[in-house]
Amino acid sequence: MITKETIEKVLDAARIEEVVGDFVDLKKRGTSLIGNCPFHNEKTPSFHVSVAKGIYKCFGCGAGGDSLKFVMELEKYSYPEAIRYLADKYSIGIEEVQRSPAQLAAQDKRESLYVLSAWAGKFFKEQLWDTPGGQAIGLSYFKERGYREDIIKKFDLGYSPDQWTALSDAAIASGFHKDYLKEVGLSIERDDASIYDRFRGRVIFPIHNLTGRIIGFGGRTLKTEKSVPKYVNSPESEIYHKSDVLYGLNFAKKAIMDKDTCYLVEGYADVISMHQAGVENVVSSSGTSLTSGQIRLIARFTKNVVILYDGDAAGIKASLRGTDMLLEEGLNVKVLLFPDGNDPDSYVQRYGSSAFKEYIDAHQEDFIFYKTNILLKDTGGDPIKRADVIREVVQSIALIPDEIKVSVFLQQCSRLLDIEERVLLTELNKMRLQRAKAQDKKDAAASRPMSMDMPSPDMPPADFFLTDAERSDIGLPPAEAPLVITSEILQEREIVRILLNYGADLATWEGDGDIPVAPLLLHAMDDIVFEDRPSAFIIDVFRKKAEDFEIPEAKFFFSHEDKEVQDLAITCVSSPYELSPNWNDDKRKIFVKEERAHLKTLTIQAVYRIKKRKIEREMFKIREELKSGAPDVDMEILLSKYQKLKEAEKLLGSFLGNIIVK
Ligand code: GTP
Ligand code: MN
Repeated sequence: MITKETIEKVLDAARIEEVVGDFVDLKKRGTSLIGNCPFHNEKTPSFHVSVAKGIYKCFGCGAGGDSLKFVMELEKYSYPEAIRYLADKYSIGIEEVQRSPAQLAAQDKRESLYVLSAWAGKFFKEQLWDTPGGQAIGLSYFKERGYREDIIKKFDLGYSPDQWTALSDAAIASGFHKDYLKEVGLSIERDDASIYDRFRGRVIFPIHNLTGRIIGFGGRTLKTEKSVPKYVNSPESEIYHKSDVLYGLNFAKKAIMDKDTCYLVEGYADVISMHQAGVENVVSSSGTSLTSGQIRLIARFTKNVVILYDGDAAGIKASLRGTDMLLEEGLNVKVLLFPDGNDPDSYVQRYGSSAFKEYIDAHQEDFIFYKTNILLKDTGGDPIKRADVIREVVQSIALIPDEIKVSVFLQQCSRLLDIEERVLLTELNKMRLQRAKAQDKKDAAASRPMSMDMPSPDMPPADFFLTDAERSDIGLPPAEAPLVITSEILQEREIVRILLNYGADLATWEGDGDIPVAPLLLHAMDDIVFEDRPSAFIIDVFRKKAEDFEIPEAKFFFSHEDKEVQDLAITCVSSPYELSPNWNDDKRKIFVKEERAHLKTLTIQAVYRIKKRKIEREMFKIREELKSGAPDVDMEILLSKYQKLKEAEKLLGSFLGNIIVK
């Protein structure tokens, strides 16, 4: 048991910004520090740390607490584990009632698995440094590979003697229970219930968690026979969840934050050699493909990832697929290839640190372009293969959540692929549509579809004009306010989208001759007040420019100081169909294919919808006023207003109905 005095000392010393800062990249914002919440997946920070209050609070997921709670929640530590961790961080000696390792093991299972793993780490280390066999075989192997002593020590490297039960026997003699040896996988049980060592005659790479405690091991054979597996690894256990661990992250996290970049490599050896070369912001997924848990782990510290491949072609192709996940999580992904079958480790060891650093600085390439180029190389001018490449590349781009990046990539890939940007955009929208559909299907399967009487943006529900009395006659509940707000915003944004994409295109209206879309549309919108703030702003600019017969270009708004205006403009130009999720699929399909060819229909429908909607909304308001029966309500005026609106509505419908070509 840790004494009360020690606990108090630890809690006094712990500073929330330092404790959290080891795990989260915190930036100052006003009086608090903010960062991306480590407890849930987010792309914009909502995690706040108050230095004065000594607490953290996430406004996204609701997590909150003090330093102690933070490490308990994040590292899944028990109370004593968390105290121990903080005591270690602040170099506070722990006073406690002395217990034997065996007693400790009985105390708490998880803690005892940690204690056992730490003990085994020490055992392997002692074997490496202090036994003739370890020195002659293990240590000399590491030295031959070019590892310095300080690095061998820093990474807790060790050696397992080439015997069946060296570790198991020593562990049992130290009081550890067989069950725990089996649980962490250090020992394996035979049919006769006797146990033997998993790691035999191998050099050992301990795997640490974020707080630096040993949770598992990788053991490399020193034999060259093909029949022996090169690496043997600890199995999953209660303290080692492989999909949430990256090798080297505990040593790398500070450097990752400082450099705002994380290098991702394949093996233990790569991590260690790069550290030795002074490149410390490096982690490894230990030969397995990346998991989303690992990606989120990286994303806590930086949004920039560079993947270092060794140059074998099959491996590269395979990892192209895994990389899409990084894009989806909103990370910026670059890749770097080593020549002639070198991996980062062999390159450093062969050419030295400074050559290595120069190489990685000079050869990073953005993943999207890299993928484009590598796939293009294989096509040999075959048009069908080219089409496949285009699809594959666009598929990756479609995963990127940031619209600004998407438009930049589309632009540059259009150059690389020598194909019109618009074609890529169409392809991208098709994919997003498919994805949205697949998602819709999933959602529909998971829950009941949305209420059927929710008004679509196109049409009011059939019963819209019924009075409440009429409604009750046919068994309907009283009318509710339609969801005018959101659908009006969508409609307004659709107008903005048309203006930004096609404002300068010539509309070919019968009788109107060749007039650009913008003045026509603006004229038709004369009587409409836009309520969506960024839409209103953009429309306003269009109106002002129209006085000088000018049509602003979309890119005019891309770097606008108003973030919402910027976002709207970029979204409008890069993904037309996101804005109108309620359109039915048939309509979408037509427009996805050849929107430009249907400009007239597109424009008229947009005008029609928005006007109809505004009229409906006015009518709704009047009905509400009539119903309220307030004494100052002039029934007659309201009724005549209502009548006029209804006529306008009808007129609009029949007039536009004539022009809309199906
Ligand atoms: P060296 O050959 O010592 O340089 O190791 P390396 O780290 O370069 O290994 P390699 O590139 O062959 O493999 C990359 C990673 O895949 C290793 O670090 C291991 O984590 C994993 N790995 C390699 N071989 C095996 C194996 O036989 N079994 C298992 N489970 N993992 C392996
Ligand atoms: Mn290697």
